[in-house]
Amino acid sequence: MDGLTTLDAQGVVAPLTFMEPMAEKPFSYNYEPPSGTVLRNARPQTRQVKIIDARQFADRLSLDREGFVLLHRPTAAKSLYDEDEITRVYYPECERLIAEATGAVRVHAFDHIVRNAALSAKGNQIKQPATRVHNDYTAWSAPQRVRDLMGAEAEELLRHRYAEINVWRPIRGPLLASPLALCDAQTLAEENLIASDLLYRDRKGEIYSVTYNPGQCWYYFPKMQADEAVLIRCFDSAPHGAARFSAHGAFDDPETPLDAPPRESIEVRALVFFKD
Ligand code: OGA
Ligand code: FE
Repeated sequence: MDGLTTLDAQGVVAPLTFMEPMAEKPFSYNYEPPSGTVLRNARPQTRQVKIIDARQFADRLSLDREGFVLLHRPTAAKSLYDEDEITRVYYPECERLIAEATGAVRVHAFDHIVRNAALSAKGNQIKQPATRVHNDYTAWSAPQRVRDLMGAEAEELLRHRYAEINVWRPIRGPLLASPLALCDAQTLAEENLIASDLLYRDRKGEIYSVTYNPGQCWYYFPKMQADEAVLIRCFDSAPHGAARFSAHGAFDDPETPLDAPPRESIEVRALVFFKD
């Protein structure tokens, strides 16, 4: 996107939810916290941000530079609400798609989230869109995930380049409500990435919460269809060149029609291993 003036590029001005800067380490419980403990200690900070339509540059985006790409790729999965279909049909598709897009020698899909505001309820697995801007993995949790999931092979795999990439797709299109905003990784400063604990009953995860910086450039793909997917590179161990992290979060698009259905989406997480 170099050389393009983004000032007059098509897009919307919309609120994005960042984290208010704070002194303590942020945490968030993924289950009912012990009595007397708050669910999360970080406060949101909403900023109006220009979010540029990235469709006009879609053919020039790169996972190594901006940290996200748009692909046109239908899925053979009959229902993305069917857990068995997701792991049996959709995971292998995502693995192939990532291998083709990156040249990786091995891809291991390991987790997914289905989001639908109308169906999400206590006790089921379906979630709401995630409005707080974040990055899924940190310099600590990315290698930790490799160790958790790859067993005896982990240490050998960690000696080579590896990444964590999400495949994000609407379940139904056109996606009109709560689109996903994506930060150009080249404009994301490490000082705005705040390591934050995610507390599960059986383990601790770590993500980056993100504080606002006027230097960040934000993008989205309006009206995504179910045969389109965005790859989001959340972590890359390659220390040179490419930014190693990215950031994303859902937002309320002022152009969403009042009668638009709630957003339905699925994201699959994958560990990605390279030869070099
Ligand atoms: C993700 C993610 C948020 C959303 O795909 O990692 O955070 O609202 N998605 O879809
Ligand atoms: Fe995420």
